[in-house]
Amino acid sequence: MSTAKKEYKRITTKTLVDMKKKGEKISMLTAYDFTMAKIVDSAGIDVILVGDSASNVMAGHETTLPITLDQMIYHAASVVRAIERSLVVVDLPFGSYQSDPKEALRSAIRIMKESGGHAVKLEGGKEVKESIKRILNAGIPVMGHLGLTPQSIYKFGTYTVRAKEEAEADKLIDDAILLEKTGCFALVLEKVPAKLAQKVAEKINIPVIGIGAGNGVDGQVLVTHDMLGMTHEFNPRFLRRYLDLYTDMKNAFSQYSADVKSGDFPNDTEQY
Ligand code: KIV
Repeated sequence: MSTAKKEYKRITTKTLVDMKKKGEKISMLTAYDFTMAKIVDSAGIDVILVGDSASNVMAGHETTLPITLDQMIYHAASVVRAIERSLVVVDLPFGSYQSDPKEALRSAIRIMKESGGHAVKLEGGKEVKESIKRILNAGIPVMGHLGLTPQSIYKFGTYTVRAKEEAEADKLIDDAILLEKTGCFALVLEKVPAKLAQKVAEKINIPVIGIGAGNGVDGQVLVTHDMLGMTHEFNPRFLRRYLDLYTDMKNAFSQYSADVKSGDFPNDTEQY
C-alpha cells in the first residue's frame, strides 16, 4: 500500500517551498540508475537525489571524494530518463565547485545540459556563497547541504554528529540563513542534533530535509540502498531499514546457483 501523496503532477522547486508552507513533509531518496529511479519515482517520492554517495554505493570507494563530474553526469542522465514526477537533484562532486565560482558554474551547466537534471546540490555555507550566486544567476536551482558534509570528511576526521558544540551550531544557523538569503530553494541537514535541526527549520522559509537530523524538519532523505538493506555494514542510528535485501538477494543468488548446478534451471517451460 502506498501512502505517498501524488496530488502534484510534477514536483518543482516551487512545489517543495509550497509543501513547507502547508506543513506537508517532503520525501527524498537517492538513485543512481534507470531501474531504481523508475521504482522510486513511481512510488511517489518527491525528490530523487543523484547523490555523490554513488562513489560509495556504486563504485565501492571509501569516501565520496573520488567520483568525477563525468561519472555524476552518467548517473544523473540514467535517472532522468526514468522519471515522470520526481524532482531530480544532482550533487556537484568534490573538486567541481570549490576552487572558484566560474568553475562551479561550468560544472553546474554541464550537469543541467548533459544529464537533464533539474537542480544541483553542493556542500557548505559562507565559503561557497559566491559559487552559489553564480550558479543561481544562470537560472540553475541550488540545494544547500550543511552539518556532516561528507566531502569534508578528512577535515572532520570522524563521521560523528556535527554541531554539538555551541560555536559550530551557531555557524550552522548563520550558514542556513545565508543559504536562504543567497537563494537556495532547499537545504539538506546531515547528522546534527534534532533540536538544532528543528530550530533551523523554524528559522528559515525554505524546506530543510534531514538525514540523521530528527523529525522537526520539513522532510527526510535516505540512501536508497541503505533503507532497502542492500548494504549491511553501515548501521547508523538514524537509518530505518524497510527491507533486508542483502539477505533476500544473497539467498536468491544461492538458489539460482544451486538450480543451475543441479540442472533444475531451466525446466521445460523455461526454454524454446
Ligand atoms: O550523496 C548523498 O547521498 C547525500 C545524502 C546523504 C544527503 O548527499
